[in-house]
Amino acid sequence: MKAKMTVNKSFTVDKVDPRIYGSFVEHLGRCVYEGIYEPDHKTANALGFREDVMSLVKELNTPFIRYPGGNFVSGYNWEDGIGPRESRPQRLDLAWRTMETNEVGIHEFADWAKEVNAEINMAVNLGTRGIEEARNIVEYCNHPGGTYWSDLRRKNGAEDPFAIKTWCLGNEMDGPWQMGAKTAEEYGRIAAEAAKMMKWTDESIEMVACGSSNSEMPTFASWEATVLEHTYEHVDYLSLHVYYGNRTDDLMSYLAKSLNMDNFIKGVVAICDYIKAKKRSKKKLHLSFDEWNVWYHSNAADAKIREEEPWKWAPPILEDVYNFEDALLVGCCLITLLKNCDRVKIACLAQLVNVIAPIMTEKGGDAWRQTTFYPFMHAANHGLGTVLTPIVDAPTYSCEEFAEVPYIESVAVHNEEANEVVIFAVNRNPEVAIDFDIDLQDFDVTGIAAYSELSGHDVKTANTVASRTVVPSNKDTAKVSGNTVNAELAPLSWNMIRVSVK
Ligand code: AHR
Repeated sequence: MKAKMTVNKSFTVDKVDPRIYGSFVEHLGRCVYEGIYEPDHKTANALGFREDVMSLVKELNTPFIRYPGGNFVSGYNWEDGIGPRESRPQRLDLAWRTMETNEVGIHEFADWAKEVNAEINMAVNLGTRGIEEARNIVEYCNHPGGTYWSDLRRKNGAEDPFAIKTWCLGNEMDGPWQMGAKTAEEYGRIAAEAAKMMKWTDESIEMVACGSSNSEMPTFASWEATVLEHTYEHVDYLSLHVYYGNRTDDLMSYLAKSLNMDNFIKGVVAICDYIKAKKRSKKKLHLSFDEWNVWYHSNAADAKIREEEPWKWAPPILEDVYNFEDALLVGCCLITLLKNCDRVKIACLAQLVNVIAPIMTEKGGDAWRQTTFYPFMHAANHGLGTVLTPIVDAPTYSCEEFAEVPYIESVAVHNEEANEVVIFAVNRNPEVAIDFDIDLQDFDVTGIAAYSELSGHDVKTANTVASRTVVPSNKDTAKVSGNTVNAELAPLSWNMIRVSVK
């Protein structure tokens, strides 16, 4: 089977905003406690954070981390997490039916984020709280000093502001499962007022308004339009969330889910532009795909834990164990985000540690990389620069949701700083290798810097604490002829080919 991608140095989608490789840490299950934070662990630093986890986070190279939720944020009092730890309250978290001790709060998380070289994307509670608490947290985090909240931050040990640039106006406010869920009208109004006051407190910040919780919500599209009617001139991004699962064990349909992601993005862009036209606005709204991932493996076990063992501290919930097919889908989704990088400026893989995460930990033991770690690591480390408009000619198949799914999902990024064109490609074909030509028009190709591949596993093979076989291997089989690169993409494979250019 043959396929070809043509790109040209002058035909570009846009520059990649590195925040497209964002992630997410929620006070949920063992993400914070026993995940990033475990003071008794042998690798814990003076603040109680696990150094082994930090080094995996650095390897992943995620530059932007959403915090502290998620559903959790809609019942969170941010003030519970400041001041002396011994006087912080213990509270019921109604979102996940767990116990929150508030041992980790804004200060601790900011220290951790600094250590892993990531910027914080802070979410405010617009569920049980409102515009007053929202503007106060901005003052606490970002104002230099001389006011009640900024001086309290200094008293609590942070002389310099945290300087948090990007803020989420609540989370999934259309969902009946959300504390303080709202209609689009109700949310649009409170989000506009919160954004206004937060920006009045610090005019340098950027705001993300909540889109629908997912595109299957009955109010999808009208929710976006109504919310933007109220917020368009006050916000910078609209959020999208999606989680996929291979629930019917239909591999070919599962690997096509990234086309669903692409449709979702295009649909939300259309709504943003409709409101722009309606308002005769000069402003172009961007998208924050601030929750995306595979999430289904743990659903049944979690329902049982929530029902039978509520109010535990750090229970092992949402601990999906990812397999090889999940890594391939995550790869396809990363390529899809890159192909839409002119509008998607932020995206957060949900989440980072233990909870539907690329990194897992054992209490008192090891930290390890799930299968999905690798495509993300490749993209976040090398998919930087300018995305080239991909013209892909590939054979297709049909599946339940789509009539024409290309066997190849691919994109090329011109990493100007590294003098490379980095090609990411997934071969969805389970049986045959694909002879893939990449025509790099107008580039002066000097060789192959590296070729990493994830392939050769049963689709159900997972990495666990005991066995971690799904790891990339290096290949030396990519060939260069003039400015065409050729590679034989193995059946069911994730590929990253770094081409050196002058
Ligand atoms: O990421 C897990 C949960 O999924 C988040 O808390 C919520 O926003 C979404 O429904």
